[in-house]
Amino acid sequence: MGSTNPRYPSQLHFILLYPRVIFGEDEKIYGYKDLTIDLKFASGSLAQFLSIKYSEKLPSTSTVDDIEGTLSSFIAPDYHKDEAEFLARVEKDATAFKPFGEKIYSYSRSATSVSSKGKNVAIPQVLSPEDEETVDFEVYHSTWKTPGFREYHRRMQLFILLYIEAGSYISEDDETWEFVVLYEKRKRRSAPDIATYHFVGYSTLYPFYCFPERVRMRISQFVILPPYQQEGHGSALYTAVYRHVLAQPRIAELTVEDPAEAFEDLRDRNDLKMLLANERFMAEAFGSEGVSSGGGKVGGVGKGKGKGKGKASAGKMGPPADRAWLEKWRVELKIASRQFHRLIEMLMLKYLD
Ligand code: ACO
Repeated sequence: MGSTNPRYPSQLHFILLYPRVIFGEDEKIYGYKDLTIDLKFASGSLAQFLSIKYSEKLPSTSTVDDIEGTLSSFIAPDYHKDEAEFLARVEKDATAFKPFGEKIYSYSRSATSVSSKGKNVAIPQVLSPEDEETVDFEVYHSTWKTPGFREYHRRMQLFILLYIEAGSYISEDDETWEFVVLYEKRKRRSAPDIATYHFVGYSTLYPFYCFPERVRMRISQFVILPPYQQEGHGSALYTAVYRHVLAQPRIAELTVEDPAEAFEDLRDRNDLKMLLANERFMAEAFGSEGVSSGGGKVGGVGKGKGKGKGKASAGKMGPPADRAWLEKWRVELKIASRQFHRLIEMLMLKYLD
């Protein structure tokens, strides 16, 4: 990843993790000496620049790969070939670009706690007060109908091929897709009216019909760019999707399509955290004794409701667990059946003797 501006990662540079999707199983490009392919993105608008350089090329056309022809079928048609023109676009987009769609979630991190890992950003040792920045993260929801989003998605979808094993593009002809995109938003204290947005990751969501008149929302693709991984942003984006699902009466439950192991871990951790923080659920699950703080069967995660209230009551978690009670909670929490029962099993293993 590279940067034109030492403060903002305004220009991104990528290493291809899964090039075989683009260049074939053997991951080789034939016919060139000293080949360099440069694919850069503006960090917010994702405007692209493609440069292909080599010192020699074989004359035969049958064995020589058509690099630009191949890549151009995977990237948006409006990519730049002139670097000066691209840099001018990056400069303009830095302040002109605004996210598409409706803001559904946000969270903050102090600028000093935001790591520069992998971003190749030179962080000055001492910032003058006017150079200090506030850093927030915002999640936007959009559909194909959101003005400008279709073109934006054409620039963003390459990340699915680059970072999700066996990832593939979704169909633009299917109107029902929904999207959530996570951005880092930076503002200088000296210019609080000017915000710059930097793409962090996104997820595609597909609503399936759910009898009788609702939908089951399925997370289909989910990616956080490498420089932002391992900092809790994947969890935050998942939380944003889950809260969106909870808030929408039309959505019956949240499911996930073919989750990678790392995503399954992320989902388990966040779902468990959500259950443990739900005092009403925990009190019913483990009884009044179960939510007592300090030494209770759930390890003091509750607020001590049962303490000093006489005999502790038994919880619905059993064993055996109360099935009707479980189903009532599953429906209320909008968690898919298999996932909910896995979570219950994890809670039982953790808290029941
Ligand atoms: N500092 C250090 N570590 C942290 C912090 C922090 N502030 N916050 C969270 N972590 C840790 C978590 O505890 C977790 O640790 P673990 O791996 O030991 O369990 C780890 O970082 C990851 O959690 P998050 O940071 O919340 O998740 P991340 O932002 O890294 O995103 C994801 C995870 C989405 C899998 C990302 O790695 C990714 O995009 N990978 C490539 C694409 C991919 O595989 N996508 C999923 C495909 S499945 C599907 O699409 C349905």
